[in-house]
Amino acid sequence: MKSATHFSKRGTLKLAVVVASCLLFAGFAWSERREREDRVDGSSMTEETVASAPDPAKAKAAFNEAAKVFFSARCANCHPASDTPTQGDEMTPHTMGVTRGDEGKGVYGQRCTTCHQNENLAGEHMPPGTSKDWHMPPANQKMVFQGLTPRQLCTNFKDPSKNGGHKTLAAAMEHVQKRDPLVMWGWEPGNGRTLPPISFDAFSAKVQEWVDNGGACPD
Ligand code: HEC
Ligand code: HEC
Repeated sequence: MKSATHFSKRGTLKLAVVVASCLLFAGFAWSERREREDRVDGSSMTEETVASAPDPAKAKAAFNEAAKVFFSARCANCHPASDTPTQGDEMTPHTMGVTRGDEGKGVYGQRCTTCHQNENLAGEHMPPGTSKDWHMPPANQKMVFQGLTPRQLCTNFKDPSKNGGHKTLAAAMEHVQKRDPLVMWGWEPGNGRTLPPISFDAFSAKVQEWVDNGGACPD
């Protein structure tokens, strides 16, 4: 009984060694195959490989498409170069001398939310609104869109001192990709206001394509 146990323990050990060396061998064979796969030339690349390789030309083209939305009035009106938001498709300065204030929420006596409610108010020239408190970017991070070239806008998005402190492209684009209500409002602006030139889904896909392809900026 005792020796049988002894024997079976040794047997188990042997088996373990055999299994381990099989695994080791399989591992080598696998990594060798991987190396061979890594060395394949462009002509035999699968479509999947091509799609996942960062492509600066694709990134630039995607950014240029997305920029049409960033520069459209519904977005750019809240992202002005000065401290006064703009309004309408002509992007004229906001009436009543409205200004940014430190936090982008207006100044005492003229808070954005005094007029802008949690929904678009019906009627000509009534203030628009959405589920999130209506405000513009704060004074220390103005996140300007107006008056820039696509290249400048792209460069700013990648600069933590200008993009709200975000360290990665994906984080800088979270505001868009997580469907922030202020962004989504652009496609439901109320009172016959015009929409950005492409759908939210098409825009979001272009932003993702730009990020996935390495985020190169247009020339
Ligand atoms: C005294 C009321 C009032 C205050 C305060 C106010 N707004 Fe407005 N805002 C309006 C009205 C009314 C309109 C609509 C004008 C129209 O459609 O002709 C408007 C329009 C806008 C638009 C234009 C929307 C578009 O795309 O055409 C933006 C952007 C805007 N406001 C931002 C702000 C921000 C940011 C603040 C705070 C810093 C603010 N507003 C404070 C009344 C106000
Ligand atoms: C009512 C004002 C308002 C409107 C309209 C608006 N935004 Fe913004 N946006 C903001 C504010 C405020 C921030 C700063 C983040 C925050 O406080 O939510 C911001 C931040 C951003 C950022 C991050 C900025 C950066 O530099 O990384 C992006 C991108 C952005 N907005 C895109 C858009 C797009 C696209 C639209 C139009 C579809 C739009 N915004 C419309 C107010 C607005």
